[in-house]
Amino acid sequence: MAGFLLRPLRAGDAVGERLAAAEWSLVAEDGDGTVAGWASLRSWTEDDGVHLFLTHGHVRAADRRRGLGGMLLDETEVAAARLSEQRRLGGTVMLGGNADDGQHDRAALLASRGYARIFTMIWMRRDASAVPLRDLPQGIAVRNATVDDAGDLWRLAQRAWAGRPFVTLPPEDRLRDWLRRSDRSSFLVATSGERIAGFVAVHGDEIEDVAVDPDFQRRGLASALLTRALVALGGPARLRTEAHDPAGARTLYERLGFRVATRHHRYRKRLR
Ligand SMILES: CC(C)(COP(=O)(O)OP(=O)(O)OC[C@H]1O[C@@H](n2cnc3c(N)ncnc32)[C@H](O)[C@@H]1OP(=O)(O)O)[C@@H](O)C(=O)NCCC(=O)NCCS
Repeated sequence: MAGFLLRPLRAGDAVGERLAAAEWSLVAEDGDGTVAGWASLRSWTEDDGVHLFLTHGHVRAADRRRGLGGMLLDETEVAAARLSEQRRLGGTVMLGGNADDGQHDRAALLASRGYARIFTMIWMRRDASAVPLRDLPQGIAVRNATVDDAGDLWRLAQRAWAGRPFVTLPPEDRLRDWLRRSDRSSFLVATSGERIAGFVAVHGDEIEDVAVDPDFQRRGLASALLTRALVALGGPARLRTEAHDPAGARTLYERLGFRVATRHHRYRKRLR
């Protein structure tokens, strides 16, 4: 497109850290040498075997509606196809894009290139109002997590999230690192004898994760863990989950007083 030069990212470009950390990126420069937009790619393989190339891009407000976003997205798709071939990726390879509520330009661009909205992540918030503690199911005790719980927690997560699309669980050593770095006074583990039945992890005002082993679900354990976490927090709380409620988590959070604050839509199309 006339007026813009597409080139690789250079040290000193006025772009965020996220772009610098991307696997692939491209910068659009206007006639003055000012960065007018950029695009990037990150990729990973989800637990169901789908390879995802997540595109991300930005065009500064003054340069919108001139076709630059479309041009950047087209270049990004070409780069994803090249990387997928270089890496000889088998199975399903998808392109992804994100648009928040209110990002109408971004959503329209993705739709114009054949992406479909496939699910929505929501941030939910709860005010500081008191929450009554829910009883623990019979035979269940609660303690703080230790770094040595990493293996059991990893296995529990595998079982709890099994079969869910769009999920990439961290490997065990990353979970161990997470435990090491966490404030373990707000990382609660529920036990039934020697066995870990569930956990809840809190960081600041964010409920980072909650999971219950399938053998212990629908007995009020997540509710008991979450109410303990909320009482310990003693203030407003927030968390992120899937809007379409594949595991009942959204229902659980709503029953504890969480309400949807923002919506973040996920778009995809097949690369091959
Ligand atoms: C979501 C999860 C933590 C719930 O744990 P749990 O101990 O079974 O939850 P509770 O027994 O406290 O459920 C409380 C309420 O939440 C709702 N709920 C929980 N699981 C549900 C399900 N599968 N379907 C529909 N509603 C559900 C119900 O309203 C339930 O009350 P009820 O049993 O009286 O109907 C558990 O299913 C899980 O670990 N899932 C996989 C991991 C996950 O998705 N974590 C959430 C990350 S955002």
